[in-house]
Amino acid sequence: MKDQIANVQAEALARIATVADLKALEDARVAILGKKGCLTQVQQGMRDVPKEEKPAVGALLNEARAAISAALEARREALQAELDAAAVAGSDFSMPGAALPQGGLHPISIVRDEAVRILRRMGFTLSDGPEIEDEWHCFDALNTPEDHPARNEKDTFYFDSGKLLRTQTSTVQARTMEKQAPPVRIICPGSAFRRDAIDATHLSAFNQIEGLYVDRCVSVGDLKGTLEYFLKALFGSETAVRFRPHFFPFTEPSFEIDVLLQAAGQAPRWIEIAGCGMVNPAVFENIDRSTGKQLYSGCTGFAFGIGLERLAMIRWGIRDIRLLIENDVRFLAQFQ
Ligand code: DAH
Repeated sequence: MKDQIANVQAEALARIATVADLKALEDARVAILGKKGCLTQVQQGMRDVPKEEKPAVGALLNEARAAISAALEARREALQAELDAAAVAGSDFSMPGAALPQGGLHPISIVRDEAVRILRRMGFTLSDGPEIEDEWHCFDALNTPEDHPARNEKDTFYFDSGKLLRTQTSTVQARTMEKQAPPVRIICPGSAFRRDAIDATHLSAFNQIEGLYVDRCVSVGDLKGTLEYFLKALFGSETAVRFRPHFFPFTEPSFEIDVLLQAAGQAPRWIEIAGCGMVNPAVFENIDRSTGKQLYSGCTGFAFGIGLERLAMIRWGIRDIRLLIENDVRFLAQFQ
């Protein structure tokens, strides 16, 4: 039996040393260690080994199995290494890799980040609210009555549930005041949606930065100074800015702000970039009525909503707002 074991081991090791590929190696493993393998068959002879010799023969069998297993594994590694080497033969790993083109930020993101940076430096903090809104936060709280044209089916995307895609980021004014006691100094960049016909200056999904400043004794002078400072910080100190009287239900008085666009090769023209005004006391009353706390009546404040696409158009002299959503890389690559 001992000789048998030694023979099987020697033959097995010789066979393993000469197999040429992984398939032949697996065949060898099955032929040696498998259920009907030669070592397994020798092992069955243990039955007939006298009791006192069993430990010695058993130990020999174990050694043979271990030596064969180790040889199988070593050969498998060697064959695999040959395959790996063949797979990369001819490759030069010291060659520099192909440079991947690096992406850049979209112009809307660039201008949004700059605007947020300036406003945060002025003491505003970021606030947020959902894009799918209820009518209360989008309209009622903001003193926009049931029969106001902005609420019309033709102008607003409604869901069957009665919710809607917010038509303005002004929703965040109401949401912030419901959560927080005055004073308030927040901004909220975000998307807004309207059933607007798309043309060179209008999109149906667009971006705004909302701002709200509430305290005691806030004046129109604060509003004007803040927004003029902001626009000059963004576009340069020579930027021409004008405030035009306007109407918004949630502010009184209200203004629209225009910035003079002077792009090379284009006649200078005023571009409307924001709505703003002094918060209508009716809005403060609505908030107090809904929260049941008398926190806002008696406050004063100003609010503004700036169109981010419009800021980008002025910043880079972009003539057509639609370029900002077409994702043409020839256009976008210019901003990297
Ligand atoms: N929400 C207005 C719009 O989308 C813009 C606006 C006007 C926002 C006046 C304000 C504001 O906060 O006070 O047209």
